[in-house]
Amino acid sequence: MQHYFGIFEDIHKLYEDKIQNIGMYDSWFAHFYNTFPLPPEEQEIYITKCLQYGKEILELCCGNGRLTIPLAQNGFKVDGIDLSKDMLSLLDKKVEELPKSIQKRIQTTYGDVFNLKLNKKYDVILLPATTICILADDVENLIKLLNLIEEHLKNGGCFIFDYRSLAEGQEMSEIMSLCEKSENYTALTLMQDFKNFSPGRIIGNFYTQIEHADGRFERVMTYTDKKNITDSFVNDLFSHSNLGIAEREKIPIGHDEWIFTIAKRKSECYE
Ligand SMILES: C[S@@+](CC[C@H](N)C(=O)[O-])C[C@H]1O[C@@H](n2cnc3c(N)ncnc32)[C@H](O)[C@@H]1O
Repeated sequence: MQHYFGIFEDIHKLYEDKIQNIGMYDSWFAHFYNTFPLPPEEQEIYITKCLQYGKEILELCCGNGRLTIPLAQNGFKVDGIDLSKDMLSLLDKKVEELPKSIQKRIQTTYGDVFNLKLNKKYDVILLPATTICILADDVENLIKLLNLIEEHLKNGGCFIFDYRSLAEGQEMSEIMSLCEKSENYTALTLMQDFKNFSPGRIIGNFYTQIEHADGRFERVMTYTDKKNITDSFVNDLFSHSNLGIAEREKIPIGHDEWIFTIAKRKSECYE
């Protein structure tokens, strides 16, 4: 399957033997992800919804704490789990700079959410930032994950996640760039999303070139390959699990419509 498109395909071919292919949530790309802001609409909806259910939150795939930190700053106790050591270390650095009273509301664990087994139950379990699209290729395992989530919910608790509804047809985002100059290096990062260039997929392409102060030059590339999930995919998925869809809210953020979805134990959905 093709993973690079447009100028990224050209760069990948041109520097084929000079490029290091690394993971999207590793090293330079974790650092790049860390520059993404939390849109105020996203923060508001998560905080508003969480407030309706309680203060004890588990954030699956918490990454660099883009949402974890604002939740803790708003009085929630947040446990986060993630599979990227680099993303978790960015979160840890931010936590160190918080007042002690907020620091103690955040706990992180390194691990794979598909093996979720915590000795605790939560008011709310979150999977933000369209991360469900990264986990959606292995449907059988995703259904198992939904059932693990159900086991980790307190009575009356809920699972909240989001995805985006995308128009059909090929579409590419504008190219985003990040230029950095520090004492130790100068770096240029380019990023672009390609929707439906591979049918039903949203492929993100990333390229960073780094010139170190000692003269070393690095080129790194990565891609994300997400399933473009739809309402009917989500309905079908949940129909095979112990959770049911209780609420869906569609909100325009940036160029896309985001679908915030709340799921509860099936027995609690239809009270
Ligand atoms: C799009 S980022 C979301 C980060 C953060 N929740 C946010 O709102 O910005 C996706 C995160 O999922 C993590 N991830 C992907 N697969 C995972 C898995 N199987 N178990 C745990 N974390 C995973 C990645 O390491 C990455 O930090």
